[in-house]
Amino acid sequence: MTSAPARRHAIDLDDFSGDEIEALLETAESMKEVLAREIKQVPALRGRNVVNMFYEESTRTRISFELAARALSANIVNFTARGSSVEKGESLVDTVRTLQALGADIVVMRHSQAGAPYLAAQHFRGSVINAGDGRHAHPTQALLDLFTIRERLGQVRGVQVVIVGDIVHSRVARSNLWGLTRMGAHVTLCAPPTLLGPAAYWTATWPEVRVCHRFDEALAGADVVMALRLQKERQQAGLLPSLREYTRRYGLTPERLERLGERTLIMHPGPMNEGVEIAPEAVVAPNAVIEAQVTNGVAVRMALLYRLAG
Ligand code: CP
Repeated sequence: MTSAPARRHAIDLDDFSGDEIEALLETAESMKEVLAREIKQVPALRGRNVVNMFYEESTRTRISFELAARALSANIVNFTARGSSVEKGESLVDTVRTLQALGADIVVMRHSQAGAPYLAAQHFRGSVINAGDGRHAHPTQALLDLFTIRERLGQVRGVQVVIVGDIVHSRVARSNLWGLTRMGAHVTLCAPPTLLGPAAYWTATWPEVRVCHRFDEALAGADVVMALRLQKERQQAGLLPSLREYTRRYGLTPERLERLGERTLIMHPGPMNEGVEIAPEAVVAPNAVIEAQVTNGVAVRMALLYRLAG
């Protein structure tokens, strides 16, 4: 078993070493074995209080953290901004202090503002896990993506990964870039210039990453294609000529699916715009691992809760 020093918070993967990621993935394998048992529960976090603090919508992340905490026998409380004193104007810092006074040990936070979990961590004596903040980071999504790639392909090192789509708005892309490069994958970013942002930013931050604007060119030799959700709610006018044109140039269409063959893994963090960035045929293709990503999210989040609580 790989060892790694203890950590208090998980805000992004930029401060995770390769050894720490490896140790987490190994722990997640053990957690997956727990989830395959008839009684899917171990007493590891008995008596600990986990608060799911979601200021933004979520299905996969919120429910998988809840299932993960329950599988570790922790007490889990779900907090949503709507219906709470946030609607009366209570600040993020005061809300976190209130949760601390109520006995929270771990706060899992999703927020539309980049940096919100970092701010919370400055004012909370327990652990903070970032469950997605603005465009900044989604570290547990990247960890479950790494876990799924390793599970299906046997390793991450040397694997050719194409991340395609709405990269400029994507916290999933950023966290995956830290995780994939640290674990030795070769990453190509593919997007129209308007949805990529400054290419120099990507190549300065991750010099090993390739940037490409032609999807068919990027796909040559790909072991993994990770399609990103087109974030229609974050689009300003003029970023796209039309949805149809976007799909023609950057969508995982039935024609591209056929060309890929059954060797290349198809991934998507969800939720999907089927028929836009990914064709319905690609979602159910034999090489699609989109449901496996969701399933693996529980084991990976159990592993992270376990390591932080430990
Ligand atoms: N991938 C992801 O974060 O999905 P949710 O928004 O449903 O949590």
